[in-house]
Amino acid sequence: MPSPHLLTLHNLPADEIRAILREAIAFRALAASGSLAPRLAGRTVGTLFFENSTRTRTSFSIAALRLGAEVIDLPVAGSSHAKGETLTDTARTVEALGVDALVVRASQSGAVEMIARRVGCAVLNAGDGRHEHPTQGLLDALTLADAMGRAETLDLSGLHVAIVGDVVSSRVARSNVFGLTALGATVTLVGPPALAPPSLGALAQRVRVEHDFDAVLPHADTVMMLRVQFERHGDAMRMASPAFASLREFRAACGLSSERAQRMKPGAVVMHPGPVNRGLELDGEVADSDRSLILKQVANGVPVRMASLVRCLSGAAAAAT
Ligand code: NCD
Repeated sequence: MPSPHLLTLHNLPADEIRAILREAIAFRALAASGSLAPRLAGRTVGTLFFENSTRTRTSFSIAALRLGAEVIDLPVAGSSHAKGETLTDTARTVEALGVDALVVRASQSGAVEMIARRVGCAVLNAGDGRHEHPTQGLLDALTLADAMGRAETLDLSGLHVAIVGDVVSSRVARSNVFGLTALGATVTLVGPPALAPPSLGALAQRVRVEHDFDAVLPHADTVMMLRVQFERHGDAMRMASPAFASLREFRAACGLSSERAQRMKPGAVVMHPGPVNRGLELDGEVADSDRSLILKQVANGVPVRMASLVRCLSGAAAAAT
């Protein structure tokens, strides 16, 4: 019986990724024609976010509501977690209140998996520390497949994706590495050595690490920029870390400026999971250009999370076909 949780894209078979994406495409069409059935009527989905979120939490909520579920957004700031209760105790308390699925975001890598082992309901990882953000990886794969005319096959073979910037901090990068390579793409992780250490090349097959963005840029079909995650480098980071000795240097080495964007391959697209530090890793003009898929990524979050919730709540991958 497949896991009722969605914690990682690592080792998720390509067939299963494709089944979830196909279900997302079907939900997208049904929503557009106004004929979405309330597949999750009578179910309750709780969102438990120990870290900030705009897109992810909202799109999980919209996805659940559109499928007829009830949604409870648990206010962590005002909860007993703030009084010292452990993450697991908070999650088990919420489960005891009667939720069928918990969507959890936490700042510690591995925390969501730990919660999944301790509760009886389905758990969906909405981002754990620097580890993974599986639904973001799925929605990025779908957005890329749409943009490249591959939505029919969901086969990304022959496509070269550059994932650029603060890779070491990024759960989005890791989930994308697993998801995109499973579907056949080649991934180059790009950044200065402190932010893109060579060891990340061992994450999967068809992944390599490069430090020279300008050498990679003209060959990429997709340039996925990452937010510089100041919060994950500690308070001292801004001043002390060699990686950030100068934000101007960072921008010069691996920011996607308007000038640099002109050297992209014809037809190549720009992605970013948001939120964007405009003018640092990505110029506003590029973020708002025709090449940018940023708002399409956000929009695809809803059907992908519908498909993910249905997969987990029906407890079987077969439901996603
Ligand atoms: C990302 C996250 O929280 O991991 N954002 C998102 O979910 N869309 C990336 C980030 O915070 O930079």
